[in-house]
Amino acid sequence: MIAGTSLRVAWQQLAVAILALGAKGWFVMVKDSNNSHPGNSLWGDGWASSWFDAGNPTKTTSTDYKKDCLPCHVPARATDWVYTSGYPALK
Ligand code: HEC
Repeated sequence: MIAGTSLRVAWQQLAVAILALGAKGWFVMVKDSNNSHPGNSLWGDGWASSWFDAGNPTKTTSTDYKKDCLPCHVPARATDWVYTSGYPALK
């Protein structure tokens, strides 16, 4: 269950990317510095991380960010898992 407060705070730091791999939907990362959902496989390493299909955007189809997201984001580990090199304003 996602607590309203942490979600509201998190929205302020929301980062959204539109996938370019053919599927339609959104990669969503919500900052969570407090590790507020320990044991939840979509939360950890400072973020909530999920994929949302355009056809069903209210519920994520991701199950485990360590499998669904981290393998590709390892090169961006030093910048908090975000590819800041693509966004000069974030540097
Ligand atoms: C196939 C490899 C791959 C997978 C799997 C992947 N990502 Fe990414 N992601 C990337 C790359 C590469 C970029 C940078 C793209 C760019 O800058 O144009 C990126 C960018 C992003 C961004 C935009 C911010 C940034 O870091 O540039 C977000 C948010 C994001 N990914 C979230 C996720 C989430 C959440 C998951 C898991 C549900 C995920 N990604 C899975 C490769 C991947």
